[in-house]
Amino acid sequence: MPSLVNMEVELAVKGFLIDQEKMAEVVERMTKELKMGLAKDTHPRAVIKCFVTYVQDLPTGKERGKYLALDLGGTNFRVLLVNLVGQSDIQITSKSYDFPSTLMTGTGKALFDFLAECLAEFCKENGLENDNLPLGFTFSFPLQQQGLSKGILVAWTKGFNCEGVVGKNVVQLLQDAIERRGDLKINTVAVLNDTVGTLMSCAFNHPNCRIGLIVGTGSNACYVEKTVNAECFEGYQTSPKPSMVINCEWGAFGDNGVLEFVRTAYDKVVDKVTPNPGKQTFEKCISGMYMGELVRLVVVEMIGKGVMFVGDSSQKIQQRWSFKSSYISDIESDGPGEYRSCNKVLHELGIIGSQEADKEALRFICEAVSSRSAKMCACGLVTIINKMNINEVVIGIDGSVYRYHPKYHDMLHFHMRKLLKPGVKFELVVSEDGSGRGAALVAATAGQSKPKM
Ligand code: BGC
Repeated sequence: MPSLVNMEVELAVKGFLIDQEKMAEVVERMTKELKMGLAKDTHPRAVIKCFVTYVQDLPTGKERGKYLALDLGGTNFRVLLVNLVGQSDIQITSKSYDFPSTLMTGTGKALFDFLAECLAEFCKENGLENDNLPLGFTFSFPLQQQGLSKGILVAWTKGFNCEGVVGKNVVQLLQDAIERRGDLKINTVAVLNDTVGTLMSCAFNHPNCRIGLIVGTGSNACYVEKTVNAECFEGYQTSPKPSMVINCEWGAFGDNGVLEFVRTAYDKVVDKVTPNPGKQTFEKCISGMYMGELVRLVVVEMIGKGVMFVGDSSQKIQQRWSFKSSYISDIESDGPGEYRSCNKVLHELGIIGSQEADKEALRFICEAVSSRSAKMCACGLVTIINKMNINEVVIGIDGSVYRYHPKYHDMLHFHMRKLLKPGVKFELVVSEDGSGRGAALVAATAGQSKPKM
C-alpha cells in the first residue's frame, strides 16, 4: 500500500479489490449463466442471452470488394466505405458524425432519419448514390437475430433510450428511413454486433481468432460455438456449417443478483442514476461509461470526509459524470512519483494546489477501479475459453478502455493466466476497426449480394 494514501481511502476502495477466490467464483457463476443462455429451454429466463448471430463463416482472407458500413453504438456515429483489395490492403474512407445527445433519448424515427441522412450525405460526397453497394450495419446493442439481416432490439444500453425501437427489426427501421428519403439505393445485407465485427476483423489476419471482445463505452464478447450447441438456432442439428458465432451480451450478467458478492455501494449508486437501473450489472463494473463515475463517487466521499483535496472547492467534481473514464487512463499513465497527466486532469476539474498525497490517493482509487474492470473481464474471457474447451486461441479486442488504458492489456493477461488451466495458450490482439472492416467482412461472407469490384 502506498504510504501517502490515507486509511480512509484504502477502506473506501476495499470493495473493488477482488481476490483470486472471488474471481474463481465469478467464473463458476458465469459459466452456469452462459450455458443457460445457449440452451433452448433455459434461454427465455437466462440473463446472459448468448444470441445467435447467423454468422457461420469466419473470413478466409480472400474476401474482396466494396462495402458500406454503418457504426452505431459507441460515442460517435460513423459511415464507412470499405474496399477489400487484398489481405494486407484494405482501403477505408470514413466519416464520423456529431451525434446530438438528444437523439440518444428521442424518438426512434428521429434516430433512423439521422442515420439515413448521414448515409446519404456520405454517399453523395463519395459519388456512391447509385452504386447499390451492400451494407453491413454494426448496431451494438442486444439484438435477437432472426437472420443475418434481421434483428429485433431487446433493450437499449449505454445511455441510449429511443422510443419505439425495442421489439422492432432495426434493419427494417433503417431501410424505412432510407426509403422515406428516396434518394439512395442501399441494400442492408447484414446487421451485426461490434464484438462480431471485432472478431471478424481480427480473424481476417489471425486465423486462430475465435473470440471478439469490446471494452469501451460498453462491454461484451462473442465467440465461435459449435452449431450443435447453438440450440436457439432453428437449424442447429441440421446445419451443414459446423460453427456459429454467439453474441454473449455478457453485460447483463448479474442482473439476477448473482454478482452482489462483488458489487460495492458505489456500483449501486451508479446503477441508480443510469437510464437502465437494474440492468447491465456486469457492464457497469467494467466499461468506460461507468468507470469514471465510480472514481468520482469515491473522491467526492473522501472530499466530504475531509481526507482529500482539503481547501479545494471544485464545483465540477460534484457534478455527476464530470470525471471522464479517459482521466483514469491519463492518471495511470504517469510514472511513479510523477503527476504530469494527473495535474492536467485536476486542472480540467478546477482543482488547484492539491498535495502530493491527494494525487497519490486519486491514482490509488483509479487503479482500484481499473484493475477490478480488468479482473472481471478476465473472468469473462476465461469462462468463454473454458466453455469452448480449447487449448489455443486468439482474442480480438477493441474499445477505448483496452486501447488507451496503459496497463489494461497487461492486467487482463496476468489475471487470465492465473485463472486458466495451465497449458492453455492465448493471445490478446488489438482488432483494427471491427465496426468498419468487420462489418464489410460479415457483409462479404453473407454472400447474399455480389460485391462490386
Ligand atoms: C451492448 C453490446 C455491445 C457492448 C459494447 C453493450 O452495452 O449491449 O451489444 O457489444 O455494449 O459496445
